[in-house]
Amino acid sequence: MSVKGLIFDLDGVLVDTAKYHFMAWKRLAKEHGVDLNDGYAEPLKGISRKDALEILLDLTGISMSGVEKLRALDKKNSWYLEYIMDIDESAVFEGVLEFLDLVKSLGYKTAIGSTSDNSSLILECTGLTRFFDVIIDGYKVTKPKPDPEVYLVGAKELQLDPSECVVFEDAVAGVNSAKTARMKVIGVSRTGSLEGADKVITTFSGLDEKILDF
Ligand code: G6P
Ligand code: MG
Repeated sequence: MSVKGLIFDLDGVLVDTAKYHFMAWKRLAKEHGVDLNDGYAEPLKGISRKDALEILLDLTGISMSGVEKLRALDKKNSWYLEYIMDIDESAVFEGVLEFLDLVKSLGYKTAIGSTSDNSSLILECTGLTRFFDVIIDGYKVTKPKPDPEVYLVGAKELQLDPSECVVFEDAVAGVNSAKTARMKVIGVSRTGSLEGADKVITTFSGLDEKILDF
């Protein structure tokens, strides 16, 4: 079946915000006397806030009561919001605007498939909202990645079959979500590898529609 729709994860794919999520997790761990090195970035990436906290606690051995967890989630989000307070077009990765312009001009339908509650805010501040027919965010789905819900709802709202959609992802949890939804996945990875992705790009710079040939 030919590709008709493109569904983009947001953080770490279109905008350089994954680093701010990690900075906030680092700050939380630090409050509990633990220094998170960069090795913790990948397991915390692309999953819900709540799931990321549980993984952080598991990996570091920090323990929290139920109430402490709720407070920690609030804190993490307020720090994250503090970090993205001044976010603007400069946070959009190189080549993204040109690629979105190109695919829109070629008639592809486009969606955001993110489980972040902050997606709309980021899209507005970076000027990206206008490129998308549909925005699926944390308020629209109940099951976070790696569950396929976010991408299945994306395809449904684009009025396409999942097999007609291609997903752009930077996190393993998101790749698994899209694969379970039976979609092709283009990994976006600065290092050039992403487990499970059908293809991997390191940048959108210079990319054209040939990347959508499967
Ligand atoms: C995206 C990010 C994750 C983040 C999740 C929830 O998937 O990649 O790192 O944990 O959204 O984001 P939120 O802004 O709602 O905490
Ligand atoms: Mg991401």
